[in-house]
Amino acid sequence: MDLIQVNQEKCIHCGLCADACPTEFITMVNQVPQATGLSCIACGHCVAVCPVEAMDNVKAPLAQQFPLKKVPVLDADTAATFLRARRSIRRYKQDAVPREKILQLLDIARMAPTGGNTQGVAYHVIDNADTMLKITSLVIDWMEEQIDKGSPWAPYFAVSVNKYRKTGQDVILRGAPCLIVAITAKSFQPRGRDNTHFSLAYAELYAPAIDLGTCWAGFFEACAASGYQQLINVLGLPEKMVVTGGLMVGYPQFTYKRLVDRNPLQVTWQ
Ligand SMILES: Cc1cc2nc3c(=O)[nH]c(=O)nc-3n(C[C@H](O)[C@H](O)[C@H](O)COP(=O)(O)O)c2cc1C
Repeated sequence: MDLIQVNQEKCIHCGLCADACPTEFITMVNQVPQATGLSCIACGHCVAVCPVEAMDNVKAPLAQQFPLKKVPVLDADTAATFLRARRSIRRYKQDAVPREKILQLLDIARMAPTGGNTQGVAYHVIDNADTMLKITSLVIDWMEEQIDKGSPWAPYFAVSVNKYRKTGQDVILRGAPCLIVAITAKSFQPRGRDNTHFSLAYAELYAPAIDLGTCWAGFFEACAASGYQQLINVLGLPEKMVVTGGLMVGYPQFTYKRLVDRNPLQVTWQ
């Protein structure tokens, strides 16, 4: 079956579908859109751009594309504040996050852009308190091993290890009730990790809109990505998958009252 179907009665031969196609998969032949190229990446631009609903694509069906009347555009100040107000949350309320809410978050995370529209990110969600504590304890063990091996990260790891050993405070998953573990195929690196990070960034930005706070779980990711067997066993992931990101999620205990600055902007022009 052809990947694209053009409703000839509706088509106005404007060529927008061919113009919008990023892979030259669609070209205009005698003013009719045709699939002449090698690969369609299922981005759905051809269908989405058509002003008369004449284009359909098996990989991005018209029936699954929602009509978009007007995209609300945030004014510049609101957009800047929205982006700058995103902060890492390291103190969470004890309340569990309903799974429907996590699904709502991930349903936006999966919309993030990915290289060549490859997507390929799956999410393994942990919301069991005992498992969360177990993970923290294993990451601490792994950090201790890294310190003993003289890892360049040793001084940094030592701060967390010492605090955990002295106080028992969860310095890895920060007492969050939930951890989203992003996983991608081992054979799909480094693209899988890149895709993961865009996806988790979407989750992080969307989270406050549904009252959630997040924090990247970089220590956890480093431990899992190193292949630390004890942690891999706890996660029980399929053999061909690898951890490419982690995001703690929960209800924030407090809000920040100020926006911080970052390093000065560095730009070169040519
Ligand atoms: C890839 C990545 C990994 C991170 N890992 C951790 C982590 O393991 N633990 C933690 O508390 N914060 C972690 N962070 C949060 C950063 O420390 C934080 O983004 C940075 O200090 C800036 O603060 P802000 O996010 O509140 O603006 C991570 C952030 C990123 C982007």
